[in-house]
Amino acid sequence: MDTNILFMAHSGWRYIALLVLVIAILKYLIGWLQGGKWGNLDRQIGLITTIGVDIQVLLGIVLWALRVGIMQNAERMYFIERYIEHPVTMLIAIVVMHIGWARVRKTAGDTDKFRVAALTFIITGLLVALGVARVTGWM
Ligand code: HEM
Repeated sequence: MDTNILFMAHSGWRYIALLVLVIAILKYLIGWLQGGKWGNLDRQIGLITTIGVDIQVLLGIVLWALRVGIMQNAERMYFIERYIEHPVTMLIAIVVMHIGWARVRKTAGDTDKFRVAALTFIITGLLVALGVARVTGWM
């Protein structure tokens, strides 16, 4: 089965996932440090960011399942780095993102909301950046 289109979609969507993460981090950091008021836009940014990263992860899971199915024995090292380490890193990232975002929604004060949101997306962003750097050979 030709998985190249899926691979290209998963590879290209990273820019959208990283862009929404950077926007969310900046917005929440500013709100946190300046003691801003949590508004509708802040809720929407969090939702769009989680959806953007979720799409990336879904594409990755489907790609993983399809490619593992057609893999040969000689490809083991490649398998461990790209099919174990990379997915585990990214799955930890989205677990952190979803737990953090659920916590943002439960937190009451505006400054506290921004603090939790900023920390959530900083950790998510760092993990996602690390996962991309490793899988593309930067690190
Ligand atoms: C935010 C989350 C993720 C980001 C930003 C991301 C990004 C990337 C990038 C940049 C590549 C390399 C593409 C290239 O070489 O051009 C890649 C490859 C890949 N990713 Fe992800 N990924 C994420 C999550 C996941 C998850 C959760 C899985 C699986 C459960 C996954 C499975 C894969 C697979 C199977 C490959 C291709 C490996 C290969 O055949 O060489 N990814 N990903």
